Amino acid sequence: MSEKKRVVVLLSGNGTNLQALLDQEHKYSYQVVGVISNIPDAYGLERARQHKVAALGLDHKAFSSRTAFDLRLIQEVNRFDPDLVVLAGYMRILSPEFVDRFAGKLINIHPSLLPDYKGLGTYKRVLADKKPLHGCTVHFVTPELDSGAHVIQASLEVKATDNEESLMQRVQTMEHQIYPLAAHLFTSGRLQLKEDKVLLDNHPINPLGYQLKENALELA
Ligand code: GRF
Repeated sequence: MSEKKRVVVLLSGNGTNLQALLDQEHKYSYQVVGVISNIPDAYGLERARQHKVAALGLDHKAFSSRTAFDLRLIQEVNRFDPDLVVLAGYMRILSPEFVDRFAGKLINIHPSLLPDYKGLGTYKRVLADKKPLHGCTVHFVTPELDSGAHVIQASLEVKATDNEESLMQRVQTMEHQIYPLAAHLFTSGRLQLKEDKVLLDNHPINPLGYQLKENALELA
């Protein structure tokens, strides 16, 4: 395979999506070269170290403002010379300075079928609204929260017996498949953002849609 593209992951917590990215990099065109967390004791940093990937804790509370923190974050991300920056449970709103700096090569995964259920607490809200479907979306990041162009969505049927925990587990199983795939499509040069449109192999797409059927993801 030609040289791997460089991915930097930003996170704040457990890092199961980081783990999925690491576990699948052997079959894809990217390599995770650095992980940065605004929470210094986030378990995701430990996962990076165990995988011999550079891990940096950068405590946002030590900075006087969001902009001051993000300017330092830009410096630290740039040290890794990334081709793609991946937000994987990064629980801090990014400043326009940061988003503009990495525009077009900054992606996020959100646990809902965007544009529905932006923001936090998606499982609880979906269950309260008795929605038949839930899922997750990989999207390019813009300054407005959870609002950039969609790349891949995966959906599943909400069961009558689901609670927040069971729903989260099944949605995260899908996340762990579509996020490494999205990173691969981008780093292999097939996926790009052009004038706010997502192009796959130079053609505009609606998000690639997957559905969970009997524990396997199928193209919708
Ligand atoms: C994921 O479920 C993702 O949808 C959201 O944050 C969660 C992070 O989980 N953005 P993890 O830290 O990757 O386990």
